Amino acid sequence: MTTEASLSPAPDGPAPGADALRVEHISKRFGAVTALKDINLRLGKGEVLALLGDNGAGKSTLLKILCGFQPPDTGRILLDGEEVALKSVDHARSLGIDAVYQDLALINELTVYHNMFLKRERVRWPLLNNRAMRKLAREHLDDMGVGIKSVDVEVAKLSGGQRQAIAVARAVYSDAKVLLLDEPLAAMGVKEGALILDLVTDLKQRGDVSVIIIAHNYGQVLEVADRINLLQDGEITLDKASKDTSVEELTEIVVAEYRAALRERHKAAE
Ligand SMILES: Nc1ncnc2c1ncn2[C@@H]1O[C@H](COP(=O)(O)OP(=O)(O)OP(=O)(O)O)[C@@H](O)[C@H]1O
Ligand SMILES: [Mg+2]
Repeated sequence: MTTEASLSPAPDGPAPGADALRVEHISKRFGAVTALKDINLRLGKGEVLALLGDNGAGKSTLLKILCGFQPPDTGRILLDGEEVALKSVDHARSLGIDAVYQDLALINELTVYHNMFLKRERVRWPLLNNRAMRKLAREHLDDMGVGIKSVDVEVAKLSGGQRQAIAVARAVYSDAKVLLLDEPLAAMGVKEGALILDLVTDLKQRGDVSVIIIAHNYGQVLEVADRINLLQDGEITLDKASKDTSVEELTEIVVAEYRAALRERHKAAE
C-alpha cells in the first residue's frame, strides 16, 4: 500500500495524472446472491471503457454503486484521486458523475424538455425559464440527430428508444466529468444506436469526459471503446485494450463459461 500512499492527493487539489475514477475492492451482496466480488477497476481521463458480460454478471450493480444509487458492502471509490463516499445520485451528480440507467430515470408526466433539465432547471428567478430550456432541448436533440417532433410532449407518449435517447442527451449535455451509460443502445434502432456511438466518439475527441459504457453488442462497443473489462459472475476476468482483443475472443470466453456451467449442471443432475 506504500505506493498508494505516495500517490495520495495533495491536500488542496486532485493528484496530478490521477485516474478519473478508480474502484478498489468493491463487493456487493443481495441476500444470498453475491453480485460483485472484490472489483478493481480504473477509468483514465478521457478514456472510454466498455464493461461487458452476460446477463446477471453484475454490470448494472457496479454502475449503480458508481453513480451513488446504492452503497457497496466493501471497498472504496476514488474520483480524480480522492476518495469519495457517494451518498446519493444527486450527490454523485454534484461531483460530476452522471448516469443513464438501464431502467430509465425519466419522469413520465413531464415534457421532453423538462426531463432534459431535470434537477438542473434553468431559472429566471423566481420562475423556471421554460423558453430557454425548450430551445436548448430542441438544439441538443437536433445536434444528436434524435428525431423527436416536439419537446413539449410528455415522455410517457414516446417510444422506449426515444426515451433512451433523451436520457442519453440529458447526461451528455450535463457537463459531467464521468459518464456512466448502462446499455444506452439496448432500446435503439440501428440508426439511433449509431448516433449514440457517434456521440460517445465526439465526447472522446473532446477529451474532457471519461465514459463507462455497458453493452451487449461487442462489435459496436469495440469500435468506440479504448479498453474493455469483462465481468463474469461478479468478477472482472479480462482487462484489455480494445485493439488487443476481438469479438471472437470475447464471445469465446463467454461461451466457454456457459459450457462449463452446463457441464456442472449435468454433473449435479447425475
Ligand atoms: N436489488 C437487487 N436485489 C436482489 N438482487 C439483485 C438486485 N440487483 C441485482 N441483483 C442480482 O445481482 C446479480 C447481478 O445483477 P445485475 O443487474 O448487476 O446484472 P447485469 O450484469 O446488469 O445483467 P444484465 O445484462 O441482464 O442487465 C443478479 O443475480 C441479480 O439478480
Ligand atoms: Mg444490467
